Amino acid sequence: MREASGTKPAARGPRRGELLEVEIESLAFGGRGVARSDGFVVFVAGGLPGDLVRAEVTKGKKRFAEARAVELLRPGADRVPDACVHGGEPCPGAPWQGLPYERQLAEKTAQVDEALRRIGGLDGFELQQIVAAEETWRYRNKLEYSFGEVDDELALGFHARGRWDLIVDVDDCKLASEAGNAARNEVREWARSEAVPPYDARARRGVLRNLAVREGRRTGQIQTRLVTSPARFPRPPVDLHTVIEGDSGGTDGPTGALGEERLREVLSGLQLEMSHGAFFQTNTEMAERLYAVAAEYAGLSGRERVFDLYCGIGTIGLTLAGRSGEVWGLEIVPEAIADAEANAKRNGIGNARFLAANARTGVRPLLEQAGKPDVVVIDPPRAGLSQKIVRRVLECEAKKIVYVSCNPTTLAPNAAQLTEAGYRLRRVRPVDMFPQTPHIECVALFERE
Ligand SMILES: C[S@@+](CC[C@H](N)C(=O)[O-])C[C@H]1O[C@@H](n2cnc3c(N)ncnc32)[C@H](O)[C@@H]1O
Repeated sequence: MREASGTKPAARGPRRGELLEVEIESLAFGGRGVARSDGFVVFVAGGLPGDLVRAEVTKGKKRFAEARAVELLRPGADRVPDACVHGGEPCPGAPWQGLPYERQLAEKTAQVDEALRRIGGLDGFELQQIVAAEETWRYRNKLEYSFGEVDDELALGFHARGRWDLIVDVDDCKLASEAGNAARNEVREWARSEAVPPYDARARRGVLRNLAVREGRRTGQIQTRLVTSPARFPRPPVDLHTVIEGDSGGTDGPTGALGEERLREVLSGLQLEMSHGAFFQTNTEMAERLYAVAAEYAGLSGRERVFDLYCGIGTIGLTLAGRSGEVWGLEIVPEAIADAEANAKRNGIGNARFLAANARTGVRPLLEQAGKPDVVVIDPPRAGLSQKIVRRVLECEAKKIVYVSCNPTTLAPNAAQLTEAGYRLRRVRPVDMFPQTPHIECVALFERE
């Protein structure tokens, strides 16, 4: 959290439900606007620098408050008009769309730098120019929608900003391709014409919960997965059907195929297939650019042993295999490992092996089986690595660690632990995988001193 400082706070901070009129000063990690009210810092969802907004307080804490913009009273001078709007509301999936794209890039670069310096206490690294996105709209190859009701009619779209109980209906989301939008709209038409009710989480009744639309950008394949409560209803126009018992908000459960079970994609010249439960980067075009930076940082000569930790369906390791002696991938989701093995075979790659294991317990056995690696590539989820997993990575004693991070605030403490143990952070390069959003991806290169 980047904090504003200055005036002495009032005796009590803003309380939940209170309406404030505030001017946004800057952006915090995570993307919310930072404002001040009577000296209290307020993080405002939906507020961009320079905006004067009416904001409703959603959480009042001792030292700061959280709020969401409910009315834009005066837009900031740099604001660009919203391009993606649903039912009069800015798209919740594109909270930075009001920022000019150059400003988004500058902000992301600054946040990477600040996280590493302020949270990680690091210095002396080269911050390379951010790789700008090829497409700033219609770049996502996967979107998840929720069913609900708007004006007594079934709706299929996103949760309104900061609201778990309110859905905004979506006709054309500019984060998705036209084909992806058409697939979603077809499912909504089916649900309306067959009168299948949406699931109401508050009342715990109803049927339709979520729809995931995935797209092979290079193959043109669209894959839809409908998530419902157990119920009987006419055959839906989708590829996969997942049934969820109980009232958890999750979307993973027993899944049956009504159409094509696997998604096909082409990436960095590789023919890939993936199961619905396996992770795949949501921006196919920029994943290639991301992996190219990782490959450049790995600096392989063709002889090295490479570990690809958190390998998903094997994409990073497989793109490096032609330049490595051998590749060993490790990943917790068994279906993803099965996909990785099949992907290696499909592409005639014989020097890559993949193991299904938790990084916490799997690195030591991997070391015993494979021997010490020259390069370790790590690509963890947003939470980053626990201190224990960093220690396991250190035991690999690799000359180079290439860390692909989707969250600089968790990269920073991991980077600090690696440097305390003798690595040096050499270079960092942000890659913009998620235009119009505050999400930041970057690649960091560590070398043993
Ligand atoms: C950000 S994704 C990266 C996947 C892959 N490198 C790619 O680029 O597509 C993180 C991956 O880590 C896996 N994962 C999460 N926790 C894990 C753990 N404790 N041990 C091993 N893998 C884990 C997830 O299933 C996911 O596939």
